[in-house]
Amino acid sequence: MTGVPGKEQLARQLGESRARSLALLDPLDEPELLRQISPLMSPLVWDLAHVGNYEELWLLRATTGAAPLRPGLDSLYDAFEHPRATRPSLPVLRPAEARAYLGEVRGRVLDALDRTDLEAAPLTRGGFVFGMVVQHEHMHDETMLATLQLRGGERTLPDDAPLPRGRPVAPHDDVLVPGGEHVKGTSTDPYALDNEQPAHVVSTPSFRLDRVPVSNRQYAAFVAAGGYAEQRWWQPAGWAHLASSGRRRPMGWSEDLASVTRFGRVEPLDPDEPVQHVCFWEADAYARWAGRRLPTEQEWEKACGWDPVAQRLRRYPWGDDDPTPERANLGGRAARPAQVGAYPAGASAYGAEQMVGDVWEWTSSGFEPWPGFRAFPYAEYSEVFFGGDFRCLRGGSWATHPTAVRTTFRNWDVPVRRQVFSGFRTAADV
Ligand code: AVJ
Ligand code: FE
Repeated sequence: MTGVPGKEQLARQLGESRARSLALLDPLDEPELLRQISPLMSPLVWDLAHVGNYEELWLLRATTGAAPLRPGLDSLYDAFEHPRATRPSLPVLRPAEARAYLGEVRGRVLDALDRTDLEAAPLTRGGFVFGMVVQHEHMHDETMLATLQLRGGERTLPDDAPLPRGRPVAPHDDVLVPGGEHVKGTSTDPYALDNEQPAHVVSTPSFRLDRVPVSNRQYAAFVAAGGYAEQRWWQPAGWAHLASSGRRRPMGWSEDLASVTRFGRVEPLDPDEPVQHVCFWEADAYARWAGRRLPTEQEWEKACGWDPVAQRLRRYPWGDDDPTPERANLGGRAARPAQVGAYPAGASAYGAEQMVGDVWEWTSSGFEPWPGFRAFPYAEYSEVFFGGDFRCLRGGSWATHPTAVRTTFRNWDVPVRRQVFSGFRTAADV
């Protein structure tokens, strides 16, 4: 996957992301697709037509100069014009119309891909804009999974694929990442989005990082110890949010900390799974309680991908080879994180495990550009969010598709958000 993708690979990846979107929504009837399940999320049919409109904009109109297929759609599916909370009142395409529109766009895109000389323009060079559209659809598939998690009701997902079992990891087992210079970001990855670029040299003091993500067992100890009632663990804004939201434990947990509701099913809480569905404030408070802190993005990226022997950044913790089910839990095959310690084969050069997949990991860093950043191909992907009240999340979750995550990939959200598949690991100075 590191090399420049050919047309066949791009067409196959477009097909895979579409099959995934349609399969996710297939079990839901029309009212369920049109309904707004949570004010935090879009009606599912909005996500569906939005990915089609994004594909039309970038793979037909921007690339081939084609005229709009259906007048008026751009505004309906512009995420900036219409915040999520207002989307249910829009005259959106009905599910059957949306599916027909997506099919029409895709037919034309595949024809255009055949005819396009990818190397002729910056947008298509190395397949970039096709990779961007593939990743965009997978990001919305993950967003739709978060919507389905909030939905409750009967489960619509297929049964989970089996996951490797965890292995015992001592509660405070952490790895040493010696200080020094390393390269952060990339200037060569064909799938890298603008905020991952360019590659640049940075210097990081030595630090320690948890070998694996913080587990439910560890997090439950914080809850049981009264961590949500003690102001000293919380930053002022986090404490204020705790008061207004009434949060007392991670999203989905029962009051007795014994069970969790997942995609409409109540299950025993597995103490060995990474904690999931915590917001930044909850992650930060736990870290303080544990006498630790969250890692910065720079630390996280070094621990994930830097190869101190070869002096280069790996695409994944284990190297440049594509993810496999033995190395990482990605792509939604199982609708849950794997237990901690389940992926020794996916360890980074420093011995950190499960850096990619399972749960997104909160970092202490706000969303800021790397030095030399250039918005490409549009400012609304990253640039307009810089300097806002966001925290970066890294590494992808069980729901993230392999094409939409790598060592350098950056995600961000506001610090109160926890319907995303978010967890964390802690760090310490040495
Ligand atoms: C990168 C996940 C923060 O979903 O808000 C989707 C991705 N950008 N459509 C988001 C995105 C445009 C974005 N995140
Ligand atoms: Fe989008």
